[in-house]
Amino acid sequence: MNKSAAKKRVDKLKRLINEYRYQYHVLNNSIMSEEAADSLKHELSELEQAYPELLSADSPSQRVAGEPLAGFKSAKHSSRMLSLNDVFDSEELGGWENRITKLLKLDTSKIDYFVDIKMDGLACAVVYEDGTLVQAITRGDGFVGEDVTENVRTIESVPLVLRETAKSKQFLKGRTEVRGEIVMYKSDFDALNKQRAKAGLPLFANPRNTAAGTIRQLDPRLVASRKLHFRTYDMLRDDNSELSTYEYVYEQLAELGFSVNADAKVVSNVANILDYAEQWQDKRHELPFNTDGLVVKVNDRRLYRELGVVGKAPRGAVAYKYAAEQATTKVKDIFVSIGRTGAATPVAMLEPVVIAGSTVQMATMHNEGEVARKDIRIGDTVIIHKAGDIIPEVIEALVSLRSGSEKKFIMPESCPECDTKLTKLKDEDAVWRCPNNSCPARTWRHIQHFASKGALDIEGMGEKNVQALLESGLIKDSADIFALSESDLLQLERFADVSAAKLIAAIQTKKSPPLERFIFGLGIRHVGVQTAIDMSQQFGSMEALCAATIEKLHDVEGIGEVVAESVVVWFSEPHNQQLLDKFKQNGCWPEHAIKIEGSLSGKHFVVTGTLHTMSRDEAAEAIRARGGIFQSSVGKETDFLVAGENVGASKLAKATKLGTTVIDEAKLVTLLK
Ligand code: IVH
Repeated sequence: MNKSAAKKRVDKLKRLINEYRYQYHVLNNSIMSEEAADSLKHELSELEQAYPELLSADSPSQRVAGEPLAGFKSAKHSSRMLSLNDVFDSEELGGWENRITKLLKLDTSKIDYFVDIKMDGLACAVVYEDGTLVQAITRGDGFVGEDVTENVRTIESVPLVLRETAKSKQFLKGRTEVRGEIVMYKSDFDALNKQRAKAGLPLFANPRNTAAGTIRQLDPRLVASRKLHFRTYDMLRDDNSELSTYEYVYEQLAELGFSVNADAKVVSNVANILDYAEQWQDKRHELPFNTDGLVVKVNDRRLYRELGVVGKAPRGAVAYKYAAEQATTKVKDIFVSIGRTGAATPVAMLEPVVIAGSTVQMATMHNEGEVARKDIRIGDTVIIHKAGDIIPEVIEALVSLRSGSEKKFIMPESCPECDTKLTKLKDEDAVWRCPNNSCPARTWRHIQHFASKGALDIEGMGEKNVQALLESGLIKDSADIFALSESDLLQLERFADVSAAKLIAAIQTKKSPPLERFIFGLGIRHVGVQTAIDMSQQFGSMEALCAATIEKLHDVEGIGEVVAESVVVWFSEPHNQQLLDKFKQNGCWPEHAIKIEGSLSGKHFVVTGTLHTMSRDEAAEAIRARGGIFQSSVGKETDFLVAGENVGASKLAKATKLGTTVIDEAKLVTLLK
């Protein structure tokens, strides 16, 4: 290749690699696999080596990390990097609105707000001169930070040159400063810690500290090896009037090639800010990075500036913080709880503590190994975490607060409920189980599961009623429920005429349950909702399923050897056969499944990221109702990967590798029509 051909090729390669980067980091879209992009970068580097005069600082090859630095230089910020004052509830948010409307002498209806998720990372300012990256500075004390340009260059989501479009052109002239947060994604953090655990290295505490520690590494090669992301929220120009609102700033940031939160938006009043907060209350846990709240700003940047600064924070913005999901408390005792499948889980009994609005008295510790690894002792002060509907968890013990009287937990050798010796299964060495099928704790959990929402959904058959019915001897298993009468229930103190009649009526309506719900309700190990659906679609009736061989089960898509064996073993056990007979005698037997044929028959879907028009469960139900198959992870047979907001890069990469068609939410909605 001669020099002029090489130059043309280099220019084209640069353009395509930059487009790949933009599509991937800004639009969550993948135009080729990571491997293919790497191969183009490799070709570019080789051409630049052959023709060094073609090499420029803005080439995508120049992200490749250079030699270690001796130290960081200080660098002054063009304007102070501020922090935010916190508000914790609607009252405090209203107070803020009152103060600013008074200061601005404006009616509340005249002020719009821009709301975004507050990311938990480290602030960084990146400076471009005539469209080319020249410097990156950490926050430091707000006035002076550290020059971390070499490290920030290795972050893929930081453009080395700004993207030129008709709309963004003006920002490629002169100085453009972009501010944002450098974050490490939760999944990358977990993977990094897993690697470290394997290598026997100490674990990192959390993604934010790891990101901050990484950016301050003197060796850019190490920085390049840890995946960091730059997500932006502000832009500074010498002439302030070029950027009228935050909404416009975000539009331009995306146009220039930066990653911004696509869900950030303008709202007109405090009530709408609170709606936004509520909308993200639980959904924020699905975001790839950690967040503990929102950032609310006055959208009009002229008004924002007019409001000025008090102390270290602008008056025109606040951080709205969600209620804390962690608290500290003391472990009063550790006991073992037996689950439906016999799993013996150590549970910490706590001094009651309020977390995220509810009182927590118990927290799980998963298994014996986890208690030992975290070294949680009776009497310890511990950190508890609770988020959304998840079961509270013990995170760690505060070892420095120990008095010496704390006691180590010893796993009992036998089941605390029925005294049967606990055993470990060969494929699960972390979990002790009670092998006694008629263990009262297992029966109790099992009946609760059978009556629960995902299975038969019998209203009024909650944990307390199940317990009372078992203790009184009125039921011994889930089939006995269907032989209960009102007069039986009235023997118990918990029931009066109305409540007894109601529960019996609820039971009567569940005598011909859908096959898949009945199968799921049986609580066969390894049979979750989807497997139950797959089996009911394949076999059509309980009789056919009972007679299924391992080979036949194995033929069902999505069922592997372990599941097939577990199902066959379950149906071969005499006590389970007796249970099924009793269901029949008591008048409860599932309907035959009708094979659903619809517009999506035979098509496999995986949904990932956040959807806006429906929840994941709703999407699954809609897909299944049209004959489609809803899967939890991408495999060879997946036809469509539905990519919502904030899709994990690994899922997209896997889909690209397997040739799965990636569609967005709008396309899914069309397919469902
Ligand atoms: S706007 C005055 N938007 O939070 C600075 N900041 O506590 C207002 N942060 O310094 C910046 N996510 O480092 C803004 N979506 C977001 C943010 C965000 C995280 C950080 C930022 C800021 C700090 C203030």
